[in-house]
Amino acid sequence: MNPLAPLDTLLEPSEGELLPLPSSLATLYGRLRLGGLGSAPYVYANFASTLDGVVSLNPKGRSGGGEITGFNPHDRMVMGILRSVADAVIVGAGTLRSVPHHLWTAGHIYPNLASSFGELRRSLGRSGEPLNVVVSARGDLDLSLPVFSSGEVKALVVTTEDGARRLGGQRLPDSVSVHQADGNNHLRASSVLTAVKQAGRADRVLLEGGPTLMGEFLSEKLLDELFLTVASQIAGRASPAERPGLVSGRTFAPEVPLWSSLAGVKRAADLLFLRYRFRPGGPPGPTRPAPISP
Ligand SMILES: NC(=O)c1ccc[n+]([C@@H]2O[C@H](COP(=O)([O-])OP(=O)(O)OC[C@H]3O[C@@H](n4cnc5c(N)ncnc54)[C@H](OP(=O)(O)O)[C@@H]3O)[C@@H](O)[C@H]2O)c1
Repeated sequence: MNPLAPLDTLLEPSEGELLPLPSSLATLYGRLRLGGLGSAPYVYANFASTLDGVVSLNPKGRSGGGEITGFNPHDRMVMGILRSVADAVIVGAGTLRSVPHHLWTAGHIYPNLASSFGELRRSLGRSGEPLNVVVSARGDLDLSLPVFSSGEVKALVVTTEDGARRLGGQRLPDSVSVHQADGNNHLRASSVLTAVKQAGRADRVLLEGGPTLMGEFLSEKLLDELFLTVASQIAGRASPAERPGLVSGRTFAPEVPLWSSLAGVKRAADLLFLRYRFRPGGPPGPTRPAPISP
């Protein structure tokens, strides 16, 4: 039996393919329309943030995204659906380091619905799990971690020449491949997507963070959509570096403003599930009211 109540849908996107959610998921989530199947991968990110914009609380052992929503089951269900429809899930090495035993699969984040997630993948013609992609400049990764060694997922490490050399010092499990891209201590998001496309099907690609990699995708205008879960807690900050927001290492406003359009809103009690679309040459910004004369 599933203990979750259905999400309330407050706003639905009208564009995108209507995906064939099995009835167990459609009852909980409602309809899901998503872009994709164009010539380039449809890149969508999924993040959770507190009311004050914090995405990582950061104390050791409690820096994962689950702490942001209080391990909310509705958020996990939505994460599961978003992973189920992805050909690949990309994370930066910092995200892996914060949850070293994680696998970026739907069943891992919400095991109760694993069979429904599997049904969804099969109806989309996908077999197996999405490719788990880890981006690392340094290549200082422990290949005995489950994402690399469990054999439950295929993993791709996208790294630099130095990183590939460092990784070469460890035995590479059969399920892991390494793609060496151009760049010294910095890889372009476009190179990461090229590596994912070379590894296999890449119609829909999910970016699960973290803030540093997110900044790279946004600055190269390679993010099509953001799924943002807003949790109803305020985390506070002693310093911005200690508790990052959605983007680290890049600034946009006011010099290079990066606006988006609200495409969807769902709700589970105090939690909001927002969808924002980014498009090249998209909305210039909100309509500003004329200044009020004194
Ligand atoms: N609330 C949420 O939804 C959410 C989602 C994801 C992550 N997070 C949190 O965010 C925190 C991690 O933040 P973060 O900014 O460190 O995350 P991150 O972007 O996952 O990791 C940064 C690391 O990834 C690699 N990397 C990222 N962009 C790169 C690029 N362009 N070229 C080469 N390497 C690149 C580098 O790895 P190397 O150091 O190996 O070179 C870099 O140090 C964690 O606490 C995590 O739990 C929260």
